[in-house]
Amino acid sequence: MKTYRIATIPGDGIGHEVMPEGMRVLEAAARRFGFTLTWDERDWSCERFHRTGQMMPENGLDEIAGHDAIYLGAVGYPGVPDHVSLWGLLIPIRRNFDQYANVRPVRLMPGVRSPLADRKPGDIDMLIVRENTEGEYSAVGGRENVGTPEERAVQQSIFTRKGVDRVLRYAFEAAGKRRSSVTSATKSNGIAITMPYWDERFAEMAAQYPGITTAQFHIDILAAHFVRNPQWFDVVVASNLFGDILSDLGPACTGTIAIAPSANINPERLHPSMFEPVHGSAPDIFGRNIANPIGQIWSGAMMLEHLGEPDAAAAIVAAIEAVLAEGPRTPDLHGSASTQEVGAAIAAAL
Ligand code: NAD
Ligand code: IPM
Ligand code: MN
Repeated sequence: MKTYRIATIPGDGIGHEVMPEGMRVLEAAARRFGFTLTWDERDWSCERFHRTGQMMPENGLDEIAGHDAIYLGAVGYPGVPDHVSLWGLLIPIRRNFDQYANVRPVRLMPGVRSPLADRKPGDIDMLIVRENTEGEYSAVGGRENVGTPEERAVQQSIFTRKGVDRVLRYAFEAAGKRRSSVTSATKSNGIAITMPYWDERFAEMAAQYPGITTAQFHIDILAAHFVRNPQWFDVVVASNLFGDILSDLGPACTGTIAIAPSANINPERLHPSMFEPVHGSAPDIFGRNIANPIGQIWSGAMMLEHLGEPDAAAAIVAAIEAVLAEGPRTPDLHGSASTQEVGAAIAAAL
């Protein structure tokens, strides 16, 4: 029987509540489709930071470099500054394993009400492809003239030809398997060096894909169009920061950010890819067992797809759809079910 070795990192906050539900559903899929998952858990977290001064051990990445995939909950919790916790764990995984395509499907699901008027399933179905290793998330810069009236903080945005082209190519290839349309998020009117460069690379890539329709919008009006005209969008490709913002806005338009999945992909498969919900550790609801586990579970389906189990992945998405349509539901979707009740219902629907 085929066996996949998965490194699990529940992380912080509701990561601990949604991860067991993700594993429960993936185990059910493994039983039904005839493969085995072995789980290798790491306690890397803010709690570990308080104990040891580090989010993960010095050689942490080496420990998981040979796994088939990484399944992560959420990272970050009050008590550790967010830039310390995230740059101590999540971002190093993305960067060191060259997971340059952050793939985030956004779909209005049957039975879920969009906060936008008159939207029904099918009206919102897009794939956000977010650059995940460079751009605005750079480690280059610092504070200068500290403590003087001339004090300033400088951070460079870095857009390399290699980095931009590879994520654009990923987006165009993905569009070829969907509705053959790619929209680029830009801001070349205001950010006058890196964004014109992004636009140039986008135009050159588009020329290589004559069968794909393209559009581009500045990020400000694009955000407005997400709300006014979400049906316009198929694949949306964006820099690291713009993609981050759009991938909370898009899911909010589909009813809740809590069901949104993401895949941090190293397409060349030289390193493990990582699968995690779009949402964070939700300290405001942690400990109440009301976190919606669907983002975690759907991310698990993306992991199985990546591992070469597309039927199991599709069955999990179908089970999610069935439970969203009929319940039980957590409070973010106006229900009263617990995290575990939703996880169990999806596992049973499988
Ligand atoms: P968040 O996503 O944790 O929470 C935003 C809001 O959405 C909260 O009201 C929360 O209760 C709700 N929410 C989120 N997930 C939910 C779920 N599964 N079910 C029901 N409701 C849910 O964002 P935040 O509050 O900005 O961040 C909290 C911490 O998480 C911070 O430390 C932040 O840096 C971190 N964070 C981590 C990740 C990640 O690990 N990928 C992503 C985003 C934020
Ligand atoms: C996400 C998160 C992270 C990001 C944070 C926690 C660093 O918001 O995965 O969307 O900005 O990438
Ligand atoms: Mn985000």
